[in-house]
Amino acid sequence: MKNAFVPSLDPKKNSDVLILPIWEGGHEAASIEHAKSSLQSILSFGDFKGKQGETDFIYPSGERILLVGLGKKEKATSESLRRSYSAAVKQVLAKRLKSAHILLPFQSHLSREDILRGVVEGVFLSNYAYTRLKGESDHESSSSLLESVHWVGLGSADQSFVEKTETICSNVRFARELINGNADEITPAYLAHTAKALSQVSSKIEVSVFDRKWLEQQKMGLILAVNRGSDLDPFMIQASYKGNPGSQDHIVLVGKGITYDTGGLSLKPTDNMLLMKCDMAGGATVLAAVRAAALLGLKVNVTALVPTTENSIGPKSYKLGDVYRSYSGKTVEVNNTDAEGRLILADALAYAAAHLHPTCMIDLATLTGNIVMALGEEFSGLFSNSDALADDLMKASHKTSELLWRMPLYGEYRDSLKSDIADMTNIGGKEAGAIKAALFLQEFIGSGTSWAHLDIAGPAYSSKPKHYSPTRSTGYGVRLLIDFLEARQGR
Ligand code: BES
Ligand code: ZN
Ligand code: ZN
Repeated sequence: MKNAFVPSLDPKKNSDVLILPIWEGGHEAASIEHAKSSLQSILSFGDFKGKQGETDFIYPSGERILLVGLGKKEKATSESLRRSYSAAVKQVLAKRLKSAHILLPFQSHLSREDILRGVVEGVFLSNYAYTRLKGESDHESSSSLLESVHWVGLGSADQSFVEKTETICSNVRFARELINGNADEITPAYLAHTAKALSQVSSKIEVSVFDRKWLEQQKMGLILAVNRGSDLDPFMIQASYKGNPGSQDHIVLVGKGITYDTGGLSLKPTDNMLLMKCDMAGGATVLAAVRAAALLGLKVNVTALVPTTENSIGPKSYKLGDVYRSYSGKTVEVNNTDAEGRLILADALAYAAAHLHPTCMIDLATLTGNIVMALGEEFSGLFSNSDALADDLMKASHKTSELLWRMPLYGEYRDSLKSDIADMTNIGGKEAGAIKAALFLQEFIGSGTSWAHLDIAGPAYSSKPKHYSPTRSTGYGVRLLIDFLEARQGR
């Protein structure tokens, strides 16, 4: 999308529509000199209330204006602005308009940054549709997005904020595209190839793709076990961006990269399997975060590590009741082949802890159905052995409205992972499944590393459109990680 910046509104402006914000009660949130009196007489009817997300097209003297309600002025937040402007963009897309002038509300209790963040993210995040798999006849729909935006009245600092936000949102889009893609196309090799291409996006990203032979040499027995039912090779993908070479601080982001989860021999019921192309959402999200960090030139050192394979079913599938040896040396009795995410993550976390000198590790994984039962589709569960790290993630979450809820990493439940023939099992009974999954991962992070686990099974993939997030892949987590990394610069 093209961004243009204009100091003030020209009555002869050359775009398809002007988006004009209105506070609840019918008060203009931005001024529009050339149509002031006609606008006031339209608003005086009281039909347009200015409720949050309310929209209406009006046509005073041959101009197309889209009114967008922002709700009560004193209650505005960056999230309410995100929602209102996304409602406006949806109306613009429904009419297939290609260009818009956008006015922002500037007199409010919110900081300029909060206003900008809400408006600009609302616009960019909702200007999206997944159309790659549409047939030829529907191809028109792929071009029904907004192509240019004229931002009115932004100073130079605001303009760079818009550009920064566009970079971040284009990486949300990058993640959405990978997650929404057919599992038959977005294979482990495809993810590896996509990661390799990151070094062309920025010369500061260094990518290594480790293949089956390497996994065998390293004795990564858990990822190899999960891979056995698939005829596609597994990989360990490592993409590093060194934006702060003088510093020892190194954030390792580990993302679950199961490109399709059938459950293996513990086969999933059809309805549950239907969603399982999303099971590499964590992997896509951490790759997107490193890509964005490099494009923004953040002063951080960050590595994305993505263990990737299908969890398929076949004559060579790994077996329930058998014991497999992890990279860390710990042995695991597999009592359910559908609890595969924790297995591949275990090898990745243990490798990261041993070789990548992390100051902190954050893993993102569509790990359990249990977290969705507990927190629903909007929250991910945050588990951490470090209050400081958890607080930093919560702070980022408050800014981006990607919801997180801290869950207990309650050590007493670890007993349920005991095995009589191996060091541990991979499932621990029906209750508190998300907590037990997190406790399983904790066994592999080594000592002294601060670590957080985000179980994103709920918000990664949505059953319905929500404001600025489409149905299916939401791109949850990309903005959160970038905000976290931004705050960590210079450490
Ligand atoms: N990929 C699933 C978890 C999942 C569920 C992701 C719903 C997104 C939406 C994971 O590999 C899985 O199957 N977990 C099992 C664990 C159980 C066997 C202990 C689950 O949650 O049922
Ligand atoms: Zn599974
Ligand atoms: Zn899975």
